[in-house]
Amino acid sequence: MSIGYYSSKKTDDICEDVCGQQSSRAALSMSRLKCILRGLDLKTYIILLVLVPLGILGMYLHGPKISSFLRPIWDSPPKPFQIIPHYYHHNVSMENLCRLHGWGGVRESPRRVYDAVLFNNEVDILTIRWKELYPYITQFVILEANSTFTGIPKPLLFARNRDGFKFIENRLTYGMVGGRFRKGENPFVEEAYQRVALDQLIRIAGIEDDDLLLMSDVDEIPSAHTINLLRWCDDTPPVLHLQLKNYLYSFEYYVDNESWRASVHKFRTGKTRYAHYRQADVLLSDAGWHCSFCFRHISEFVFKMKAYSHYDRVRFSHYLNPERIQNVICKGDDLFDMLPEEYTFKEIIGKMGPIPHSYSAVHLPEYLLNNAEKYKYLLPGNCTRDSGVGTLSVESMSFLGRRDELGRFSGYEWKFCIFLFAAGLGFLHFGEEIGVHRILYFLVVGISWKACCLKKFSFPAVKFLQIQGEVVLAV
Ligand SMILES: *[C@@H]1O[C@H](CO)[C@@H](O)[C@H](O)[C@H]1NC(C)=O
Ligand SMILES: *[C@@H]1O[C@H](CO)[C@@H](O)[C@H](O)[C@H]1NC(C)=O
Ligand SMILES: *[C@@H]1O[C@H](CO)[C@@H](O)[C@H](O)[C@H]1NC(C)=O
Ligand SMILES: *[C@@H]1O[C@H](CO)[C@@H](O)[C@H](O)[C@H]1NC(C)=O
Repeated sequence: MSIGYYSSKKTDDICEDVCGQQSSRAALSMSRLKCILRGLDLKTYIILLVLVPLGILGMYLHGPKISSFLRPIWDSPPKPFQIIPHYYHHNVSMENLCRLHGWGGVRESPRRVYDAVLFNNEVDILTIRWKELYPYITQFVILEANSTFTGIPKPLLFARNRDGFKFIENRLTYGMVGGRFRKGENPFVEEAYQRVALDQLIRIAGIEDDDLLLMSDVDEIPSAHTINLLRWCDDTPPVLHLQLKNYLYSFEYYVDNESWRASVHKFRTGKTRYAHYRQADVLLSDAGWHCSFCFRHISEFVFKMKAYSHYDRVRFSHYLNPERIQNVICKGDDLFDMLPEEYTFKEIIGKMGPIPHSYSAVHLPEYLLNNAEKYKYLLPGNCTRDSGVGTLSVESMSFLGRRDELGRFSGYEWKFCIFLFAAGLGFLHFGEEIGVHRILYFLVVGISWKACCLKKFSFPAVKFLQIQGEVVLAV
């Protein structure tokens, strides 16, 4: 760097002008810093010593917010779905309903329906889901791994709680897949791998062409009447996405109706692959519920935040502090302190701030209301979560206290120090030059900050990842 500086004639000239004196090269090299400092007035000091570090600190603390607020500039929304109006009343005949949707007549016998999920740790929500869907599902297919998506060993929670699922035992296909435990790998790769295993498990469960296959996360619960409609009507679309109502933490916090990832497929051997991204353009309105982070115990929030695909949003270890999590839930704030992810400024601003409380418990899953005492925490009026370890065992929570696991987060703090140091050096180096150099420098620093610290993984690149081949499954 110093060689670059002293061979730069232009820089020397500027410094000489600023200091108003002639110096030998050696003397100049001695008093380089002095020379710069003398040449700058008080205002520049303030900028240099106060505003720049403050700006950088602000970027460090709120970087993701700035970048999501500016999202409308750098990102454009995907092609909108073609939304199919959804008609339902319990006293309208199936014949009428099929006709209203334009799906032909009623079949002589309903299609068989397979519900396939990857299970992590959502025991309560799984119970509510399966009770809701029970009357219409032929086989419940569930795959569980002994690794989380981020490569942390996970106890086989479904296997442990299997007694609670006796009611579907004779329609259950359960599979276990060993995790690959690759540290530092993008968690979306492990997720894609587990979905391949799920594909195999679905075939083992005996699915055939023209059966319906429901692809969704455990917490994306289609309403029973939606599935009943789809299995009876003759002419439903081959792939149909379901528009679900988004809830956060419980059914007290209604976010919006924009969940669309769940889908129903008419199975075609060799063609249908289990996926959780957009696979068609049609979306059936108001088809169920998506309850994210709907856990009974604070420890389950911590586990989910740390162990699954968005763990890179845990930028500070205090995000995992149980007291903070409890407060965030009661306020309806964001666990990761992020802004809403939207494509227009109007939507971002409209959704900023805490989610308002909802006092409606109308049109919720039947089993939830029939067992309201047991699931009080999911209904309006109770934001308090239990503090025990819950369904997670003590050993699975032990990673939280381990230094090396938390070390991953302090990595951000180290990066920040190096970044600050580089920014400071660079500022001194180009400090006395106005114009292109400095602008270029800040561009480079800004882009590398964005590349290395804000987005740990490039999500779009792996969104459509599909892993080929067979995996070893225990059924
Ligand atoms: C349901 O519909 C039938 C005939 O369409 C009618 O006789 C019956 O009263 C209705 N029941 C209710 C609860 O509306
Ligand atoms: C995960 O499961 C695989 C396959 O059964 C096994 O070989 C491996 O030891 C398990 N790992 C842990 C950490 O339980
Ligand atoms: C979804 O939400 C939007 C905006 O809140 C609203 O205009 C629309 O009617 C809702 N659609 C359904 C099916 O609830
Ligand atoms: C709220 O829910 C929690 C967790 O289910 C439970 O322990 C607590 O008793 C409930 N509080 C009230 C006031 O119902």
